Amino acid sequence: MVEQDFILTSYNNAIDSGKVKWSSPSNIALVKYWGKREHQIPENPSISFTLSNCKTVTEVTFTKKESDSYSFEVYFEGEKNEVFKPKIQTFFERIEVYVPFIKDYHFKIETSNTFPHSSGIASSASGMSALALCFMSVEEKLTEIMMSKDYFNKKASFLARLGSGSACRSIEGELVVWGQNKSTESSDLYGIKFDGEVHPNFKNYQDTILLVDKGEKQVSSTVGHQLMYGHPFATQRFKQAHENLANLKAILASGDQKAFINIIESEALTLHAMMMTSMPYFILMKPNTLQIINKIWNYRNENDSNVCFTLDAGANVHVLYPEIEKESVLEFIKNELVAYCQNGHFITDHVGNGAELIKK
Ligand code: DP6
Repeated sequence: MVEQDFILTSYNNAIDSGKVKWSSPSNIALVKYWGKREHQIPENPSISFTLSNCKTVTEVTFTKKESDSYSFEVYFEGEKNEVFKPKIQTFFERIEVYVPFIKDYHFKIETSNTFPHSSGIASSASGMSALALCFMSVEEKLTEIMMSKDYFNKKASFLARLGSGSACRSIEGELVVWGQNKSTESSDLYGIKFDGEVHPNFKNYQDTILLVDKGEKQVSSTVGHQLMYGHPFATQRFKQAHENLANLKAILASGDQKAFINIIESEALTLHAMMMTSMPYFILMKPNTLQIINKIWNYRNENDSNVCFTLDAGANVHVLYPEIEKESVLEFIKNELVAYCQNGHFITDHVGNGAELIKK
């Protein structure tokens, strides 16, 4: 599908008001998106596990108004919120051409997260995808033509991407690919459910998020992506992401857990290496991040385990492990890793099936 396919040309704005509600999960990238071009087009393909427990629930109430400018208010966890408004304003500006009805209505956006506020967990993926899905439900109400589920999901992902790149990978589960590449069915414009075979070893994978640093991110991902412009290793990195995705596809089918670990951990460290070697440079890991990584490596060697780690653009650690090791790894986390978490906080999650409609 191309960009023009997502432009809504006619709709019935005689509807005065309505309410829609969605919950949408966060996701954790295995091959990382780091570097983008204009209009939120990724420089390299990425693939992620969709999560299950970490999600945003968003209700949008729309009321007819004069069609001149955008009008919206935001409530976060029950309280009026001004902080999110600029990001949502930018989102409106980027999506208006595709959902022109956003000028015809006033929107009351009520949103909350299932994970603790200021936990350092990126909420932009779940938040922007939930909002995009709400706008798609509004579009569905305002159009008389039946929309296929495939089109609905693709356009929701397309809109979510314009809010935050990684958000386009949160609409569906269990694995989603975004960014054109030769090894999987894919697009730069939206995320697509991974079309390859997935061995039982990788079903219902577990992700325990260790909250090492709950503070504000040192570098926003928007600034981080920009650091890839003119980065001395950018070309090689983008090429590597294509190779890692192709290799991961084969690994996901074969069930080779050691090979999986090699790619996942290398991707996480490469992401951080990119930030350490950009100008300006950043170290986003904290001493406790490294302590945890070393503990995971020791545990893995001593117990012939398949636990591994990945990182976002921050200090928190995502501990990934197969379902079969759930009990033992959780025990290890509680005994040995919780001590490195801020206030002992961690979140247990696992792979999920994507967003859920709550109210149509
Ligand atoms: C490190 O999606 O947050 O999590 O498109 O600027 O909103 P924007 O960036 P964002 O970047 C996420 C980067 C990452 C890796 C990933 O999720 O692939």
